[in-house]
Amino acid sequence: MADLSINLAGIKSPNPFWIASGPPGNTGYQCERAFDSGWGGVVWKTIGEPIVNVSSRYSALNYGQTRMIGLNNIELISDRSPETNFKEIYNVKKKWPNHAVIASLMVDTRERWHEFVQRSIDSGADGIELNFGCPHGMCERGMGSAVGQQPKVAETIVGWVMEAASGKIPVIVKLTPNITDVTQAARAAKRAGGNAISLINTINSITQVNLDTFVPEPYVNGQSSHGGYCGPAVKPIALNMVQSCAEDPEVQLPISGIGGISNWRDAAEFIALGSTSVQVCTAVMHYGFRIVEDMAEGLSNYLDSKGFKSVNELRGKAIHSLNRWENLNLNFKRVAQIDYDKCIGCNLCFIACEDGAHQCIDLVSPNGQGLGPGRLPGKPIPQIRQEDCVGCNLCSLVCPVDDCIEMVTIETGRPFFSWKEYQTKLAKGEMQPIPPHP
Ligand SMILES: Cc1cc2nc3c(=O)[nH]c(=O)nc-3n(C[C@H](O)[C@H](O)[C@H](O)COP(=O)(O)O)c2cc1C
Repeated sequence: MADLSINLAGIKSPNPFWIASGPPGNTGYQCERAFDSGWGGVVWKTIGEPIVNVSSRYSALNYGQTRMIGLNNIELISDRSPETNFKEIYNVKKKWPNHAVIASLMVDTRERWHEFVQRSIDSGADGIELNFGCPHGMCERGMGSAVGQQPKVAETIVGWVMEAASGKIPVIVKLTPNITDVTQAARAAKRAGGNAISLINTINSITQVNLDTFVPEPYVNGQSSHGGYCGPAVKPIALNMVQSCAEDPEVQLPISGIGGISNWRDAAEFIALGSTSVQVCTAVMHYGFRIVEDMAEGLSNYLDSKGFKSVNELRGKAIHSLNRWENLNLNFKRVAQIDYDKCIGCNLCFIACEDGAHQCIDLVSPNGQGLGPGRLPGKPIPQIRQEDCVGCNLCSLVCPVDDCIEMVTIETGRPFFSWKEYQTKLAKGEMQPIPPHP
């Protein structure tokens, strides 16, 4: 069985699964239940000055039959006192010495940062995470995403933290996705001496408007506020940001990946794109702590099936499969192919291709064709003109039957040729421009 243990910038945990800072990591009671269920670490709900919260606080995006594909919140950091939180961290750490407990912090002045770093060290926490990402409430007070959105300010504050933390406790800088280029913030964290980064925090959002009252949710006495978005819907954004930080030569810091992780596959993808640990908030709020059982078993089986002895062998495996568009092969060709034994004749592929893509599918009479089991006799069938198919994938994406439309690679016989090479050859007069598509 593959070894799941990890070490992120000196923070050790028996597996890569950590609870992200938020409601599930708000108390010692929850932290212990999380460890009992199998989580390797908990990032405590952000500790700061006692906070006053509003009611209500959460709103969600449902899609079809699926509830909460995205969750939005206008909650602030912990509304429990720092004394209570640090005391509970101390007690949990005494009982669970081999699990990771990370104190998430957010304060304002240099003196306060020094004080809270020292209190985290005294509590026995294994590390500190700096919350530079909360996009509501705290940013109006010059904290949270207000810091994360300005790399220079973030650099100054990480510098203050490192004055008290350096060599004593590892510091993870948690980044906001509400920024044009997240690598700028990651580079700032590196320049200031931060030991690791975590991303993403929540994305600014409005999830829904009540069309009777015209007040968006969550409802607070006839008004609402923009909130932080998370859950499965944000995973693609998070993966992209994790990968860009992982491949950036100026960052090169250990990464804790966060954003829409709900199962072992999501976790494995984050690890393959460079994460050492993975953090989960929304999925735990939705399904409870026990989801980690399937996550650990699934990841372990997957690693075994690939012949990896340790989860660390998976880390970064996919980072370099992403390239700039200009380096992709213009001579590579994939086309759609329909398996008529599976086709149910819904013709969604035809409609999508005809109206929404490149008009490469014809509807033809089924005369003489082997019809799939779900197809009505005499109903026209979709037929792909592979010579015209541009390989956009849309038909295979809309097809409701698994593996019915496959994208197959066509051997063009032409060598690798990128846009970059094309531009060079054009400039040297070594070739004529490729004519535009008719
Ligand atoms: C209700 C709620 C409260 C949160 N509170 C915090 C917080 O106090 N500190 C913090 O750094 N992140 C906080 N987060 C953000 C999460 O830690 C995490 O970055 C984000 O939700 C993305 O992960 P997910 O898609 O697994 O939820 C909160 C998220 C939610 C939903």
